[in-house]
Amino acid sequence: KVPVAHTITTIGGTPPQEAMVDKIVKAFTITPEYLEEITQHFLSEMKKGLNEEDQTIAMIPSFVEGRLTGEEVGQFLALDLGGTNLRVVLVDLQGRGNFTTKSTKYKVSDSLKTGDVKDLYNFIADCIDSFLTEHNLDYGTADIHLGYTFSFPVYQSKINRGLQKQWTKGFNCSGAIGKDPVILLQDALAKKHVPVLVSALVNDTVGTLLSNAYSKPDTNAGIIFGTGSNGAYIEKMSSIKKWKGGPTSSDEMIINMEFGAFDNERVVLPVTPWDNKLDRESINPHKQIFEKMISGMYLGEIARNVLLELVDRTLLFEGYSSKELNSQWGFETTYMSTIEADQGDSLKETHRVLSSSLNIPKVSEVDCRIVKRVCDLVGTRAARLAAAAIAGIARQSSSVQNGCDIGIDGSLYEFYPSFEQRIEQGLVELFPDVPDINKRIRLGLAKDGSGVGAALCACVAKKMAERRPS
Ligand code: GLC
Repeated sequence: KVPVAHTITTIGGTPPQEAMVDKIVKAFTITPEYLEEITQHFLSEMKKGLNEEDQTIAMIPSFVEGRLTGEEVGQFLALDLGGTNLRVVLVDLQGRGNFTTKSTKYKVSDSLKTGDVKDLYNFIADCIDSFLTEHNLDYGTADIHLGYTFSFPVYQSKINRGLQKQWTKGFNCSGAIGKDPVILLQDALAKKHVPVLVSALVNDTVGTLLSNAYSKPDTNAGIIFGTGSNGAYIEKMSSIKKWKGGPTSSDEMIINMEFGAFDNERVVLPVTPWDNKLDRESINPHKQIFEKMISGMYLGEIARNVLLELVDRTLLFEGYSSKELNSQWGFETTYMSTIEADQGDSLKETHRVLSSSLNIPKVSEVDCRIVKRVCDLVGTRAARLAAAAIAGIARQSSSVQNGCDIGIDGSLYEFYPSFEQRIEQGLVELFPDVPDINKRIRLGLAKDGSGVGAALCACVAKKMAERRPS
């Protein structure tokens, strides 16, 4: 059960503290009218991306055509790169939403994340090899089919082909941009004689949509609110004006939106100086602005920037900081979760995080309340912006009246206090004329989109090859 956020309204600080807190509140608050404006801009950017190549929201056709039948069965491997860990998953699809999985996680070191991409793929091939041994997988002469969940922007040209557009989140390997991740992986596997065939390349959002749809046929979107943020949804072929991929076997296709780049031009988003500092110091400045305001990798860092300004103005911790608070990424988003869930007058947990985890020498009760308020503001803004994205998708796909399921995965959605309730509140404001909007747009945790979804995609790839008009 996800904890609830307990918000506080009174800080009880000195007049300068109160004045600064008010200023921060203003900078982070998104009124219902403003939220509507953001949503409208989001929707128009979606349309631009469907009409033309190289738009801010890339709207990448996934080459996954049509819908699942629920009859997808068989054993597949999945590889998941781009979340917190690298994972290899063995998925046994049993039909109608039933499946079992066995998986192993591997830590990708920072040097692999930012080194030569060949080293990364050699490492991955070794992980897959040891996974096969560990699970005694031997298919005789046949190769094991693998769905590769690669959670970065890729311009796809087939269900198992594509060219990487850029890195996002903490990755920045050399030698990968403009290359096909499937070929890089397949070559690394071949060199080590690992009997695996990479038969589908899938974004984690597409996988999340598919895994949700496996048990809920009314699913029309898959979303990740985790380390990074992005969404995929089902679009009519006739609306994908830029499509040049030739005849398809269905009149619908899943679109990987890459909405993390939404408003990189900064037309509408409430970008604060603290967001700008984060962006400037990140490994991808001016990119993924929306993602940087709503994702697990970044929320703690935004809050840290706010707290440091308060320290510098001697409005917090009597002007003292610590090595931890001074270090980039030193204030983790998980600390925010703990602080947001903290309740009662003494804010014991908040005090513990600040004095023990962050080693801040002087922490008063007012300090705890200020920090809690900052976390609340950063966390709430993230969820409300997330709601704008969901509303944009729902409006574009006209799914509000008939109702739809949206599968969501990712650490923020799964663990951050009240993240979902805050999204739901945003949706209520964005659809004032629709009663029970939260019963029509049904959000739910999609379990293991990156594993099960990739397996389903490998299965769909097989089916599509059989169905495609010759
Ligand atoms: C980043 C990636 C995107 C992925 C998302 C969630 O935005 O660019 O491909 O879906 O993170 O993992």
